[in-house]
Parts: sequence; structure tokens; C-alpha cells
Amino acid sequence: KRHLISAADLTRDDAVLILDTAEEMARVADRPIKKLPTLRGRTVVNLFFEDSTRTRISFEAAAKRLSADVINFSAKGSSVSKGESLKDTALTLEAMGADAVVIRHGASGAPYRLATSGWIDGAVVNAGDGTHEHPTQALLDAFTMRRRLVGADSGLGRDLDGRRITIVGDILHSRVARSNVHLLNTLGAHVTLVAPPTLVPVGVEQWPCDVSYSLDEVLPESDAVMMLRVQRERMNAAYFPTEREYSRRYGLDADRMARMPGHAIVMHPGPMVRGMEITAEVADSDRCTVVEQVANGVSIRMAVLYLLLGGYESAAPAAPSRTE
Ligand code: CP
Repeated sequence: KRHLISAADLTRDDAVLILDTAEEMARVADRPIKKLPTLRGRTVVNLFFEDSTRTRISFEAAAKRLSADVINFSAKGSSVSKGESLKDTALTLEAMGADAVVIRHGASGAPYRLATSGWIDGAVVNAGDGTHEHPTQALLDAFTMRRRLVGADSGLGRDLDGRRITIVGDILHSRVARSNVHLLNTLGAHVTLVAPPTLVPVGVEQWPCDVSYSLDEVLPESDAVMMLRVQRERMNAAYFPTEREYSRRYGLDADRMARMPGHAIVMHPGPMVRGMEITAEVADSDRCTVVEQVANGVSIRMAVLYLLLGGYESAAPAAPSRTE
């Protein structure tokens, strides 16, 4: 595969290969010199039209750990604010010799447009497009679940079969939820979405998951509970839920967390709004994997860049043994 646009495009073998390659990449982080020469001489451009903390920093760290040259482009402060189009921005990057473009954009479909337009030759990686998809987030979430719920040495072929994952909150605007539903289903997990009726997308019955409106009923059956932020910036006031009512019905506090099985974990893609969808007590508890997810994101993004740009034809596990 040349691009990573959607988690829905990944076969079970693709997904397991990325997760297993990420396990190898994670071992690099434990070394005194956290760097491989694999992508020396290649250029990765981080093209961000929307704000980001975790995704942008971890793609930069991942590319640098693979020895690629990294160019960070933020639409704010660029000629995009003067009206320059995605096409002309892409042609500029192509002229600078980008081997991979990691793109975050407010418009669903922008990464697909970039990958299929012919404007650039390099690999395109979707770092979140509108309300559509965020495939590397779903991969790092699956990686975190596999480590916590199955074991770090799961190895090729073992995945999340039969695990019960609950995703809670603003499903309507969540590219993280969409990517997770597709990927978790591909990996054999059972997904239940929990949300207020106004934040459930039309057509959700076509998705490979269940929908519930009662968090308290679903919690005792969950191996992992993923809390989502309510994305006020994508809403109009007419259907924005009040913070108090939302927290009462859909927020995760210590009492609710106690209803989860003892082994179950709490996840959040970030950014969190403490006091709204998750209390500070839950966010800071050792059952919450939010910081672990960020660390795992670097390994997953290293694996994705490595497989797209350099290593797909060679055996993935061999790569990390080559140190500089
Ligand atoms: N999870 C996530 O995409 O976070 P950022 O918006 O900070 O990149």
C-alpha cells in the first residue's frame, strides 16, 4: 500500500503487521540512542491545517527516530491564510521533494484528494480529516489495548478477538470513533457506542457495532472504555448539550469506573476536558492509559512511515536491530 487514508482500508493482516512492527519500534525507545538509519535521506512533511498537539509532535518524533528530514508546515502563519489552495500548497511540497506528506485537514476527504490528485508522488498519511477518519489514532489505540488486554508479546496473528470495547461521547463528530470502529471490528473486537441521541450519526446502523444510550448498563461488560471529548468547535449551539447534564449521564467519574471489571482500562485520545467527559480522579488513575497512548503513538507512526517509505518488502522485525 502507498498511502494510509482510512482504517477501513486495512485488512487484518495489514493491521497486525503495523502493530507487530510498532512493537519492534517501541524497543528502539528503550535504547540509549533512540534512532534508526532506515529513512536517512527521505523527507517527511507534516502538513497541518487544523490544530494538534499529540499527532503533530509524535509524527515529528517518529520521522526523526527513523532519521528522515522533517518539515513542519502549519496553515496558521502560512500562505494558506492568503488564500492559497490545497493544490498549490501540495505542488510546493512536491517541488521540495516530499517523500511522505502527513496531512491533518478540517475537510473530510482532503487526504484522499491529495493521494489521488497526482499533485504529489509521495505517500500520504491521514492525520485526521474532518469528521471522517484518524487511522493512526485507531492503530495506537489498538496497540495500547493489545498490550494491556492481550500482552506485549502477542505476536503475529493474535489480536483483540472477543474483547468488548465501549466508545463514549460525541460520536457524531469523532473521526477517532469511526477509525476505531472499523479497525477494532477488523481485529475481532466487539464495539459498543454510547452517546446522547443527538450525537449519534445518521446511518450508524450500517456500522459494524452496537449503540446504547445507557453508559451504566454497558460498563460492567467492557474491557476498555474510550471517552471522547465533546467537539464544541464542530457544533452549533442548538444541539450543544449542557455540561452538567452531559457529565451526569455520560461522564466517567470514580463511582462509574468502579462498575467496570477489575482488568478494564480507561482510554482517551486527548485532548481531555477534565470535569466534562472525565473527572480528574479518573484521568489521573492508573487505569487510565492516556499518557501511554501518546507514547505508543510514536511507535505506531514509526511503523507506518517505515512500512510506507522503506521497509514493506523487507522483514519488519529485522529493521530495529540496525542502529546508528
Ligand atoms: N488525539 C489527537 O489527535 O490529539 P491532537 O489533536 O492533539 O493531535
